[in-house]
Amino acid sequence: MSRHLCLLLVLSALALPAQAAPLIIKFSHVVAPDTPKGRAALKFKDLAEKMTRGKVRVQVYPNSQLYKDREELEALQINAVQMLAPSLSKFGPLGLREFELFDLPYLFPDEQVLHRVMDGPIGQRLLQRLESKGLLGLAYWDNGFKHFSANRPLHKLEDFKGLRMRIQPSQVLAAQMRALGAQPQPMGFAEVYGALERGVVDGTENPESNFFSQQMDRVQSHLTLSQHGYLGYVVVVNLRVWRGLPDDIRLTLEEALRLATVFERQIAREDNRQALARVRAAGRTQVHVLPRAERERLRQQMLPVHRAFMPVIGRDLIEGSYRAAA
Ligand code: LMR
Repeated sequence: MSRHLCLLLVLSALALPAQAAPLIIKFSHVVAPDTPKGRAALKFKDLAEKMTRGKVRVQVYPNSQLYKDREELEALQINAVQMLAPSLSKFGPLGLREFELFDLPYLFPDEQVLHRVMDGPIGQRLLQRLESKGLLGLAYWDNGFKHFSANRPLHKLEDFKGLRMRIQPSQVLAAQMRALGAQPQPMGFAEVYGALERGVVDGTENPESNFFSQQMDRVQSHLTLSQHGYLGYVVVVNLRVWRGLPDDIRLTLEEALRLATVFERQIAREDNRQALARVRAAGRTQVHVLPRAERERLRQQMLPVHRAFMPVIGRDLIEGSYRAAA
C-alpha cells in the first residue's frame, strides 16, 4: 500500500466518530410474548432503542427462556440480567411479605380501587421496601383478575374439596386455597403446564391471558370466572446498576418505561377479554360463570385470610386498601 493511501486511511478513520458499543439490557420474563407483560416488554424495547438512538439495545427473553421465576430475582441481584417484571406474589420469598397484600382474595372489588392502592401511598411504600434487597421498583404493570380452573366443574365451594391447586409462592395464596378445602402446591410458572398434564396438580388460578397463552385449555377442562384475586407485576432493576447509568441514558429509559407502562395498562384488560374469547372459541375448556350467591359463599369462606395475615402484611396496608374501596 502506498504511503499516500496509508495516510488517507488513517485520516479518514480519525474523522469517524468513535462508535461506542450499545449498552445491553436483558429483560427476562416468564410469560408468552402475546400477553400484557410480554407485549409491554417489547414496547419498552422499541421505545428505549429509538429514544436512546441506538445507545441501548434491549434483549427480551420471554417464557422463562433465560431464567425461571425462582432464579430471575437472584440473577438481577448479581446483574446477570438487568430488568424483570415478576408478579407481586414473587416478592414474599425474598422476605418482602407486605407484597402479599395484593394476593388477598376479594380485596379489590375492581381495577379502579386496585389502581388507587397501587398508585397511591401504599404502592409507593411497597416499592421503597424493594431497596432493602438492592432492587429498584420502577413501575406497576397489570395483568388482571384471576379465575380458578380444574378438571372438574367448580360451581360451588364444596367442589374445591381435596383438589391439589398450583399456586405462586405466596403464603396468602396457600391460605386462600386451604380456606376452600383445597391443597396448595407452590410451583414455578414454567412447570405448571407439565404438572397439569401429568396430573401432579388438579387445578390452578390465572387471568385469562396466562391461561390461554400457556395452552392450559388443553389440560384443564373447566374454568370458573371467579375474579377472586389479582395478578400484577413490578418492573424491577438492580438499584446500584441503575443508579450507575449515565444520567441521560437513565432518564431516557425511565421515560420509555413510563410510556410502555401507559400502553401496558391500556391493553391488559382487552388482552384478557380476547384470551377468554379464544378459550371459548377453541372449545376445549368449559367456561362457567359463578352465580352471585356462590361467589358470595366463596368470598365469605376466604375473608378470614385477611385478618390472619394482618400481622404479616400490616394492618395499616390492609385497612388502607379497604378505605380505598369505600
Ligand atoms: C404465575 O406464576 O402464575 C405468574 O406470576 C406468571 C406471570 O408472570 O404472569
